[in-house]
Amino acid sequence: MNLVNKKVKTFALTTPLYYVNDVPHVGSAYTTMAADVVARFQRLLGNEVLLITGTDEHGQKIQRSAENLGKAPQEFCDEISLTFSSLWELLNIKYDRFIRTTSPRHEAIVKEFFQRVWDAGDIYQGQQKGWYCVSCEEFKEERELLEGNRCPIHTNKEVEWRDEQNYFFRLSKYQSQLQALYAAKPDFIQPASRRNEVLNFVNQGLQDFSISRVNLDWGFPVPVDPQHTLYVWFDALLGYVTALLEPDEEPTLANALAKWWPMNLHLIGKDILRFHAVYWPAMLLSAGLPLPEQVFGHGFLTKDGQKMGKSLGNTLNPVELVQRYGSDAVRYYFLKEIEFGKDGDFNEVRFINVLNADLANDLGNLLNRTLNMVKKYCGGNVPAIASAAIPVENPLKTIGLDLGEKVKNAYCTLAFNQACEAILLLVQASNKFIDEQAPWTLYKQGQQEKLEQVLYAVLESVRLAAYLLSPVIPNISSDIYQQLGLGINFNEPRESAIAAPFDVHASWGLLSDQQQLGTPQPIFKRIEAPKND
Ligand code: MSP
Repeated sequence: MNLVNKKVKTFALTTPLYYVNDVPHVGSAYTTMAADVVARFQRLLGNEVLLITGTDEHGQKIQRSAENLGKAPQEFCDEISLTFSSLWELLNIKYDRFIRTTSPRHEAIVKEFFQRVWDAGDIYQGQQKGWYCVSCEEFKEERELLEGNRCPIHTNKEVEWRDEQNYFFRLSKYQSQLQALYAAKPDFIQPASRRNEVLNFVNQGLQDFSISRVNLDWGFPVPVDPQHTLYVWFDALLGYVTALLEPDEEPTLANALAKWWPMNLHLIGKDILRFHAVYWPAMLLSAGLPLPEQVFGHGFLTKDGQKMGKSLGNTLNPVELVQRYGSDAVRYYFLKEIEFGKDGDFNEVRFINVLNADLANDLGNLLNRTLNMVKKYCGGNVPAIASAAIPVENPLKTIGLDLGEKVKNAYCTLAFNQACEAILLLVQASNKFIDEQAPWTLYKQGQQEKLEQVLYAVLESVRLAAYLLSPVIPNISSDIYQQLGLGINFNEPRESAIAAPFDVHASWGLLSDQQQLGTPQPIFKRIEAPKND
């Protein structure tokens, strides 16, 4: 959805609630980084933002993982859940809520919601026969299976045959309401390719799905029949609602939904689209609740062109990646190099090349060389130039004047790569401008005013680039602002949104000679290729 023109005061968004069967892999980090960028950008726009993440802790997959390690499930969940929150610290994710689906407050919300759906007559008992993938926690159609009864997503896992009494949710009843929703709100599912996938699926006819399991302990009991355990997905999706409760609030649906509902955005990977774009809105319709604004299904990451996943065992360890290269580097690579919505690849050589080219060379050197020239030729102060005095033909001013709006559109449509690329164009144009204008020659020729105009235009362009990149690389942007004498720390999102609002800071021409420039220091150290590679 284009969120640009929406007059939002509040903006609530979610990452998926991650399974705790294993420590986080880079796929989970990817969604969370993107969500953090959206949240930071929405804050800069002046909106009140709530970023929700958390862990999905029930179900067979987690119960088995705990058993395999000889641990009690709760103890196992406690341990793994911590590895997620600590990765988010490492990656500089400023989330507001971390919901764990094993929390007692969540059970209260699930019970109340179940009751509403029950009262609507949408839950009934039936016989469930079919192939179940424990890794997906989902029944599969026979035609979807790979040779040897393997799951199409977890290709090394065999599905398991189930034939049991379950409670079902009357999904089929909502077919036409869902179709009407997709038609009325074309942006509800994004990007367009995912929307089409869902439309095809729904148009084929919806079948009721089972929302309980027998022979499974690790989950909430079905409120009307404690012999059954609630299906993990029914409970997990409601985690988004529980997360909305204030920390000390009584866990009721009314409290949870009072301020932030309906949610603005669910960010997810393409494999869990059906749950979010079909099951979830149907459950909400049944409970008589308003629907979220948008579900965005991003693509899958591969490593060196190979499929990657927790169950496949060829994951890229995000903790090691951040420890080796820093959070800004990791965030920048995934958001700049991959079109959000399409599949993308991680390759270490490419990773290093991109960071060196964009952050060390283009951006870092630009700031450094310009600050040094200002020191040498202008006494170390921002040149006292009124930006209005710089002619509109100035190539940096031309780009700079439109950039804020362009980048805003890109962030609001989750086109992070386009946002970064547009900003980088200004950075590259600035380097070219210096080379062409040759301030060193202007200095020798005594053309002080022209020289000051050139350096002002470049410094201001670096500032604008840093501001607009701050949702992606908050550390580097803060350092740049510091060196430009603007003491704003983008790692304090609320404070920086007030001190540096988008309306003011996204416009070209803000820098003034009132700012005391800081000492030039490299903002991104060039990465040397690892020796053993
Ligand atoms: N627990 C459910 C979500 C419940 S939401 C109420 C779940 N968890 S998960 O941990 O398995 O997956 C979390 C997210 O990681 C999903 O959005 C999934 O698409 C994403 N990814 C898993 N592997 C991935 C890649 N290789 N690349 C990109 N994202 C990937 O599903």
